[in-house]
Amino acid sequence: MSTLTPVLTDNWDADRAWTLPAYESRGGYAALKKALRTAPADIVTQVKDSGLRGRGGAGFPTGMKWSFIPPQDEKNPKPHYLVVNADESEPGTCKDIPLMMASPHTLVEGVIISSYAISANTAFIYVRGEVLHVIRRLQAAVEEAYRAGHLGTDIHGSGYDLDLVVHAGAGAYICGEETALLDSLEGRRGQPRLRPPFPAVAGLYASPTVINNVESIASVPSIVANGPEWFASMGSEKSKGYVIYSLSGHVKRPGQYEAPLGITLRELIDLGGGMREGHELKFWTPGGSSTPLLTADHLDMPLDYEAVGAAGSMLGTRALQIFDETTCVVRAVLRWTEFYKHESCGKCTPCREGTWWLVQTLAALESGRGTEADLDLLVDQCDNILGRAFCALGDGATSPITSSIEYFRDEFIAHLTHGGCPFDPAASTVFAPQGAHA
Ligand SMILES: Cc1cc2nc3c(=O)[nH]c(=O)nc-3n(C[C@H](O)[C@H](O)[C@H](O)COP(=O)(O)O)c2cc1C
Ligand code: SF4
Repeated sequence: MSTLTPVLTDNWDADRAWTLPAYESRGGYAALKKALRTAPADIVTQVKDSGLRGRGGAGFPTGMKWSFIPPQDEKNPKPHYLVVNADESEPGTCKDIPLMMASPHTLVEGVIISSYAISANTAFIYVRGEVLHVIRRLQAAVEEAYRAGHLGTDIHGSGYDLDLVVHAGAGAYICGEETALLDSLEGRRGQPRLRPPFPAVAGLYASPTVINNVESIASVPSIVANGPEWFASMGSEKSKGYVIYSLSGHVKRPGQYEAPLGITLRELIDLGGGMREGHELKFWTPGGSSTPLLTADHLDMPLDYEAVGAAGSMLGTRALQIFDETTCVVRAVLRWTEFYKHESCGKCTPCREGTWWLVQTLAALESGRGTEADLDLLVDQCDNILGRAFCALGDGATSPITSSIEYFRDEFIAHLTHGGCPFDPAASTVFAPQGAHA
């Protein structure tokens, strides 16, 4: 299966690919016109039949999520909303931002079709605040779409109205968690909400809301244009379609690679020109730093939800961070843990206090100040967070720690016997020394 399947990325190298004329010259917005001639319920059925699963991490079936929007209560009508999650902050994940930068109209067209399918007349794209260049590009694309009659009132004479708002967040990882995102969008501090009620019933402004990842929504026009069977013909039995893999780290050609679900890491590394010269794979993340690490033993595992789950990890956002033998796994895990401690929203005690303690214990181990008992303490601290935190940020913070101890316990011990990191920091290009290090 070592072939690429460019669909979302197909036009990225076209001249001024982000403009409306460039997008339309390659058939852009034809799917919208087709969708407007189709009943909204039939679009939901097409997305269900395609087998599209959410690309934001959890892999929940997109069509099924849409069908949870309750039928309109005529006595107490409420607006429906579509909210696109464009917060993309998981370390290693780099697919939504390049997509919105290269081809914002793929997303805008997806938003219009998806909003039509769920009978929403207002949609939002919640973008990570730091990416000002992407926000500007999206805003320009939305303006172009309004001028062309793809957005606004009575779109292409269909009687359907839609307004699309691009909303900039303020750069908090937790605002990618869908209910924290909703609080942030409503103008509150971004913290996760208790569920139920689920957003499909009481989401934005307590109204029925669908929240989907950028890549999920951007996949919808191609499903409408080519049919659900076409989409389902790619991928594996339960993980259908093509996805964007973000390949980063110690490979010759890091970048975004669009390929079917079920391709292996070995094939993707080959497509990326191989590992950097003279080095070999040591560990990697299948879906960002909040998914358990894997090793060279997993090179031939199909990258789909089922196989990665069976190997004890998660496919997540397909953020493949590749580390060779020059990288100290203890230091890499410490860096990620510092990130989770910093990004913990503080709402619940296991995560707020626990991530702080994880950093203390890991830092002691990494600098050689700890003892072997600290390894057990670290596992115990993880046990006290996993399954006890209010949202998945706390659980995710424990993933790199427990998996690195499982696969690289000896390397933790080596830090203790060596009295510090046994690696030559100058040999690593990823974790160059920053600040004091024993
Ligand atoms: C801490 C945290 C951060 C998240 N960040 C993102 C994000 O940046 N983008 C995203 O699409 N989903 C993110 N998610 C997942 C969302 O909560 C949600 O599952 C997703 O947006 C649903 O879209 P999908 O069904 O299309 O995948 C995050 C979850 C957590 C717990
Ligand atoms: S797990 Fe962490 S991020 Fe999630 S609610 Fe609790 S403190 Fe906030």
